[in-house]
Amino acid sequence: MAFLWSAALATVITYAVYAVYTVTYNACFHPLARFPGPPVARATIYWKAYVECIANRSFCHVLVELHARYGEIVRVGPNELHFANPKAYHDIYNNKNRWDKEARLYKSFGEDRSSFGFLTYAEAKNRKDVLNRAFSQAAIEGAESLVAEKTKALCAAFERQSKACKPADLFFAFRCMAMDVITVFCFGKPIHAVDAPDFKAPILLAMDAASVVFLRFKYSDLFKNIITKCPPKLSKIISPATAGLVDLQQLLRRQINDLTDDPEKLKFLPHNMTIYHRLMDAEAYRNKTVPSAGSLYEEAQALMFGGGDTVGNTMMVGTFHLLQQSDKLQKLKAELSEAWPSLNEHEPKLRDLEKMPYLNAVIKESLRLSSGVVSGLLRVVPPTGATIGAAVIPPGTIVSCGSTFVHYNAALFPKPDEFLPERWLGSTDSDNWLVAFSRGPRMCLGSNLAWAELRLGFAHVFRKFDMVAADPVPDKLPFRDTFLPSYHGTHLQVNMRPVDV
Ligand code: HEM
Repeated sequence: MAFLWSAALATVITYAVYAVYTVTYNACFHPLARFPGPPVARATIYWKAYVECIANRSFCHVLVELHARYGEIVRVGPNELHFANPKAYHDIYNNKNRWDKEARLYKSFGEDRSSFGFLTYAEAKNRKDVLNRAFSQAAIEGAESLVAEKTKALCAAFERQSKACKPADLFFAFRCMAMDVITVFCFGKPIHAVDAPDFKAPILLAMDAASVVFLRFKYSDLFKNIITKCPPKLSKIISPATAGLVDLQQLLRRQINDLTDDPEKLKFLPHNMTIYHRLMDAEAYRNKTVPSAGSLYEEAQALMFGGGDTVGNTMMVGTFHLLQQSDKLQKLKAELSEAWPSLNEHEPKLRDLEKMPYLNAVIKESLRLSSGVVSGLLRVVPPTGATIGAAVIPPGTIVSCGSTFVHYNAALFPKPDEFLPERWLGSTDSDNWLVAFSRGPRMCLGSNLAWAELRLGFAHVFRKFDMVAADPVPDKLPFRDTFLPSYHGTHLQVNMRPVDV
């Protein structure tokens, strides 16, 4: 018995000594010791895990408070820095840098065998080289009719909603449209999400449930010991609740397996250039080998997360602001009516929409305010070290500059909280600071597709409908940082009234 007590005591002392050593080293002797930050954050990664998973705070909002207190560079973990100066954005994310993505964050999505999830530049490049052709400007122009068809299906659903005297929930509706586009583009098989009652498509509900789960997966190794040893009530709070993710995976697996089980089926799809045609073509790969079924699944999940919420959120945020400012709404409608005088003829093509200044300014302003991904895109400084802003950063440091710190910077975008499409007119100077799709070798693969959806989406919806926000009208669209923004406030519901001509 005495032996057991001694062994237990020795274990406790060993852990305590190790903890004191680690904390002292991190606070005083670590290569990042000179950078300011909350004392606990400087000492242990458990601080960030606590903030995100137990205090349930939105990290991009916490960062605003930290920068106000500690200055332009904040040490948010023993080995992690966040930069608030927009110049740092271009120092980190540019075509010369082939920095790795950071493992803890990117492995948490369970997609680390996909173009999005591969940690290294080389692996991602191999996969993106295969996919780029399917997402090129020319390929998207070739798929214009597909995107237009899904936009029209959304408009038809809005008409049905209007006939039934029911408002449309735009939090769901726009994301349904984007999901329909990406599933056809990927698999050639529509899931008709826009036709779900009240736009509550099961796949969207599953994805919403999964977004917080990813946050918890990020720290699951840290919490593993505590979860197994702590009382059930606490363990429920901090353990990864996987229900949403399981639903999503089952839905996706069903769709993907349907095609990947029998590649011959690809031949019978309505158009012959789905992303899966590319992915399943061994000739497209340098090693002439099609990726494993697991990697194909992860690619599909990455494309659905990447292509659904982002486009839908951008449209919802833009519409929210347009409905609050009737002068800007009328300007957009006037430009659309001039280009498309009668709904029965001369429907504008993407090429026409690209030339419409106000429409494109509205889209840029919507991208700025919704910001795409709101978390810092974590990168690891290579063995040569780096200079970010004026600071010399040691090798191995995890660094990021969140897009919201660029998009909401008052020096770059005066009155940053206001929706002012006019700021994009007349000059392209600000384009350098629109970083919703990120920059450098890991920038968005689907930006051409996204622009096509946004142009056709805004053009059709605002040309074909007069809209009035339904009660209760949200006065803002609060979100939580779950990598993408998760909007948790009152949903934007809108009465859609079809216009006659
Ligand atoms: C408004 C719409 C969109 C926005 C704002 C957006 C934003 C972004 C951002 C910020 C990244 C960088 C993520 C990171 O570094 O970890 C990214 C990557 C990516 N996006 Fe998008 N995206 C949009 C639409 C799409 C669409 C439609 C697709 C395709 C279906 C797509 C597919 C991807 C993929 C595969 C990556 C990973 C690229 C890589 O890691 O190298 N995105 N996107």
